[in-house]
Formats: sequence, C-alpha cells, structure tokens
Amino acid sequence: MAARLLVPGGDGIGPEVAACGEALLAAVAADTGLRLRLEHDLLHGAAHDAWGTFCRDETLALARDCDAVPVGAVGGPRWDGIVLPGGPEMQDGLMRLRAGLDTFVGLRPARTWGPLAPRTPFRPGHAEGADILVLREMCGGVYFAPERGIGPGPDGILAGHDMTRYSLPEIERIARTGFILARRRRGRLCSVDKANVMQSGVLWRRTVTEIGRDFPDVALRHLHADNAAFQIVRDPLQFDVILADNLFGDILSDLAGILAGGLGMLPSASLNGLPEGPQQGPGIYEAVHGSAPDIAGRGIANPMGTLLSVAMLLDHALGRPDLAARIEAAVEAVLAAGIRTPDLGGRATSTEVTRAVIQACLGRRP
Ligand code: NAI
Ligand code: MG
Repeated sequence: MAARLLVPGGDGIGPEVAACGEALLAAVAADTGLRLRLEHDLLHGAAHDAWGTFCRDETLALARDCDAVPVGAVGGPRWDGIVLPGGPEMQDGLMRLRAGLDTFVGLRPARTWGPLAPRTPFRPGHAEGADILVLREMCGGVYFAPERGIGPGPDGILAGHDMTRYSLPEIERIARTGFILARRRRGRLCSVDKANVMQSGVLWRRTVTEIGRDFPDVALRHLHADNAAFQIVRDPLQFDVILADNLFGDILSDLAGILAGGLGMLPSASLNGLPEGPQQGPGIYEAVHGSAPDIAGRGIANPMGTLLSVAMLLDHALGRPDLAARIEAAVEAVLAAGIRTPDLGGRATSTEVTRAVIQACLGRRP
C-alpha cells in the first residue's frame, strides 16, 4: 500500500520549501520503488483567506488518516491581528494540527556541518562535532494557555496575560521520552526550566527528577533556561539531549541553529510518541524556521531544513533510516560543493539547491 502524506504548504516561503521537499520525496520514491500518495491542503493564512478558518476540521480529519504530515511554514503579518472564536489552537493552523494529532514530542536536532563551520560565529574547533537534540514539549504550556487575554485588570490598567500551566501527566510523558532518547544516544539529559521563579518549573524539575530514578544509566542535569542559553553558546559539546517545555524549547531550538550555520538548516519532527515506539497517528515534519515573509516569493529560501525534515519523515514515519542517512550525506556534499542559498553566503536558488541534493542522493555529483 502506498504511504499517504498530507502536505500543507502554508504561507510565505512555506509553499516554496514544501515544493522542494516534495521534489525530493518524488525522486527518492522513483529511485527506490517506495510508494507515496501526496495530498495537499491550505493551512493558516492561506486557509483563512479561502475559508475564514486557520485549519478546517476536514484538514485535521485528513491529517489523522495519513502516515505523515510534512508542513511548509505558516504565518505572516497579514493574519497576526485576527482573533477567531475558540481556544489558542483556533488562532493558528499549525497549533491546531499539533493539538489535534497530539504530537507532544518535538524532535529538533541541531548539529554542526563541516563545510559551514566558517559561517558560525565560533572560533575554529569550538563547536566542531556538536550534536544536540532539543526535545521540545509541543502541546502544552503557555502557548496553549486557555487563560489569556488583553484587558483592564482589577486596577483598571490595561494588561495582557497568558498563564503557563503544565499538568503532572504532561510533564511525565515528555520526561520519560527524554530519558529513553538520551539512553539511545550518548546517555546525557539536560532538563531546562525556570524553577527558581516559576511554579510550573518547580513541578517540572521535581517530576523529571522522579522519572530519572527509573533511568540510573542516564546522567541527568537541570539548568535554568537562561543559563542553558548561555551554556549552549559557551560550550555546545557538553550537551546531548536538552529537555524543554514548549516556550523554552522553541527559543533554544532556534538558538541551537547557530551551530548548524543558520536557521534554514534545522529540521524537526513532532510525534505522538517515541520514534521507533508505539505511536498513535501521524507525525508533523517541518523545518524549524517560520514563513520568512521578508524573503517570500523570491525563490531564495534555504530548503535544507525542509529536506532534512523529509529525511526524518523517511526514518520515523516510513521506517527507512537508510534513506534518511543518504539525504544527510547528500546535504553535506552539496554544502561542501558550495551550492548554497544567500542566507549561507551563496547565490543558488531553492530549486538549484534541491536539485543538487537530489542528484547527490541518487549517487551523482551535485
Ligand atoms: P522566521 O523563521 O520566519 O524568520 C527569521 C529570519 O530568518 C528572517 O530573516 C528570515 O528571512 C530568515 N529565514 C528563515 N527561514 C529561512 C530560510 N529557509 N532561508 C533563508 N532565510 C530564512 O521567523 P519570524 O520572522 O520570527 O516569523 C515570521 C512568521 O513565521 C511569523 O508569522 C511567525 O508566526 C511564523 N512562524 C512560523 C513557524 C512555523 O510555521 N513553524 C515557526 C516560527 C515562526
Ligand atoms: Mg520557533
């Protein structure tokens, strides 16, 4: 049976990079006999323009029926001020997909790429070999706060508020995932919170510590989120898996992009459970970056984050780690050949970079 994929391109550079991901999927499928059936839909701004909602019920239902959901990127200033009836997930198409598919496990790997080392702000050797997995909780915390609003407080003064809340089971399930992932990697887990000033952080730290008793073989460390940001830059080699809530994981995964040479290099997978473990429903695969309205429509978006997300999809959704490894090696070869978009100092278009990665993947010179 063909694997079924739903591809919502989204907004800004989203549809541009999603098309690059599709081209890679099609080439890999043709080369290996992998059977894929791709369907398309609008998400967020594009969906709002067409139907007045950021994510239709039909889109979510279709996503649930698929094996994976590779997304472009969503958002843009045109839709920022729009408030629709319903909770936080109704204000953002991607958040509705994440909530609806319960993809609480956000895998955001950040590694260094030899050919891009000169493009990092680090002195030679400082970050060489860094390989961090930011594990971001994707379905809770302040981004999904039901208690939020802008209005006058009891004192009559205008105020905005969003309440951070994490339940015990929410922390337990992501913490357990973190320990298992660390065990499969280099055995180090660094949990990030602000337990010094936030009650949700106190519960987070206590719960992670308790779950850690089941994993004596994993070295657990706690850092306050601000110190974690400093430490990632100061000595990136000290990290293996970084466990963080939705807000801190969002920030730290962009920060870790410094290691990869740019925001456009980062892939992600959001899953309902462990990779290579029981999962209910499809994962969402997308680059970490946003819709980059400042460069949209010019054909120069870096497609690498999306192409590497396709690699994660092949690995986690379709059980083909061999093809994922081929894509990673192809990306490295294309970077080494100097075929790069302008954000990496090159002059190639998104399509040219994609074509080169496909060539390298098929064993031809990029
Ligand atoms: P952004 O990630 O879209 O852009 C930040 C900077 O990085 C910009 O200068 C942009 O040009 C550059 N950039 C990002 N991706 C790039 C790529 N592939 N190639 C070359 N340059 C790239 O973040 P920003 O500006 O904060 O947000 C823009 C919109 O994206 C907002 O509406 C935001 O809500 C949305 N957003 C969506 C996300 C998603 O769909 N997963 C994630 C983050 C933001
Ligand atoms: Mg982000």
